[in-house]
Amino acid sequence: MSVWRKKPISAFEAEMKKSGLNRVLTRWGLTSLGIGAIIGGGIFTLTGIAAHDYAGPALALSFVIAGIGCLFASLCYAEFASVLPVEGSAYSYAYGTVGELFAWFIGWNLILEYMMGATTVAVAWSGYFVKLLHLFHIDFPIWLCNDFATATEKCLKAGMEAPSFAVNLPAFVITWVVTSVLVKGIKEAASTNNIIVILKISVVLFVIIAGAFYINVENWTPFIPNEVAELDANGVATGKMNFGFGGVLTAATIVFFAYIGFDAVSTQAGEAVNPKKDVPFAIIASLVICTVLYILVSLVLTGMVKYDVLDKAAPVASAFSEKGLTWAVFIITIAATAGLTSVMLVMMLGQTRIFLGMAKDGLLPQFFKTLHPVFKTPHKSTILVGGVISIVAALTPIDKVSEMCSMGTLLAFAMVCVAVMLLRFKKPELERPYKAPAVYLVGTLGVAFNLFLMAYVRKETWFAFLIWGTLGVLVYFLYSRQNSNLHNASDESL
Ligand code: ALA
Repeated sequence: MSVWRKKPISAFEAEMKKSGLNRVLTRWGLTSLGIGAIIGGGIFTLTGIAAHDYAGPALALSFVIAGIGCLFASLCYAEFASVLPVEGSAYSYAYGTVGELFAWFIGWNLILEYMMGATTVAVAWSGYFVKLLHLFHIDFPIWLCNDFATATEKCLKAGMEAPSFAVNLPAFVITWVVTSVLVKGIKEAASTNNIIVILKISVVLFVIIAGAFYINVENWTPFIPNEVAELDANGVATGKMNFGFGGVLTAATIVFFAYIGFDAVSTQAGEAVNPKKDVPFAIIASLVICTVLYILVSLVLTGMVKYDVLDKAAPVASAFSEKGLTWAVFIITIAATAGLTSVMLVMMLGQTRIFLGMAKDGLLPQFFKTLHPVFKTPHKSTILVGGVISIVAALTPIDKVSEMCSMGTLLAFAMVCVAVMLLRFKKPELERPYKAPAVYLVGTLGVAFNLFLMAYVRKETWFAFLIWGTLGVLVYFLYSRQNSNLHNASDESL
């Protein structure tokens, strides 16, 4: 049964030794990386759609629900990271423990997480950038900073003629800027990233503390507005609910995106001083810190203004602008624009590292592991990733890409929970510096929560997702299985 073959642990260890990375990251350094990857488009942008269209003031409840689902997955991730502190995240864990096809499929879904994640953030970045220029009285034409569907909607709403063509130019350009930084190497980017993380957390704390003075508790009533079935432009039911408890759950699937990134810590194990202990710590700590911040931000935002006044492209800035705090809008907009850039950087970097890992194992073509002769970065793969992201970001509405990202991530998280339980059952004797508490309960709840949230995603996203999954299985059987380094190996270590 070659689809169950596993990569020997000794092979992981040999690769880690060869990689020659400096072990410089402490537990708080790793936690800061996690927070840097987590706080981004989710809190600065998607809270707008989630509160305005689906949850109302109960946005905080949506954050609690999505946060609980992620907490279960994070405990499982943490256990995995302690058993196998290697780069490559869930893909590598599964390859070393469960088997090749399972690992491949996780890797295939991680493409949605990282690539569609970066795409979502590129579109969110564009929203804040346009807002920033507007503060300096420079206005982009609607057709030049939105995809076609969004531009049409905005023009019609403003009583203007619908455009015949539209493209999100800022999203396209920022993707290429980040791509060129990644091609050149990330040394410079790493120190800039630390500064951006401090800036981002400061602004989130600022929003919570300054915003708290402007809360009007009447804006929280009713906490969950009455449920209505959502209709599309043709008046046909989309299957989603606006408001009510159904709406709160739909909003939870949207804001789930805000938590994505805690797993990015696991791609940094090669640079950690004490990976077996510190990577699990950082995964859980960064998630818990962000959950608390998110719940407070959503209470503040929906308390400052009525939820239907929040701007869908830049909700945090809009809440302060409604209160006439223009100076605060400046600070928030500048910090959000910088903060979103760092999320793109981590996501695109994570994607190329996962591709690199899969190519080194023979599951993807050589192309993905070719290094630039001078910069020593996987430049070809980085340019391909940048190219795909820039085109999709220029042409697609943000909710479509963020949902695809969430779908892939939810399934990958569920698979990680399954894998951790399987490993506990099959190899109870393995050394586990960190053990998920009540693993069978936590794992089962993790699977249930993540699959449950998947059920609340739109039908059309499901359809696209099934096509993506089928494609993944085909690529595996037509290419990866034969080309795998383990093709003729019989060594199955675990
Ligand atoms: N959690 C990250 C964000 O919200 C992906 O941008």
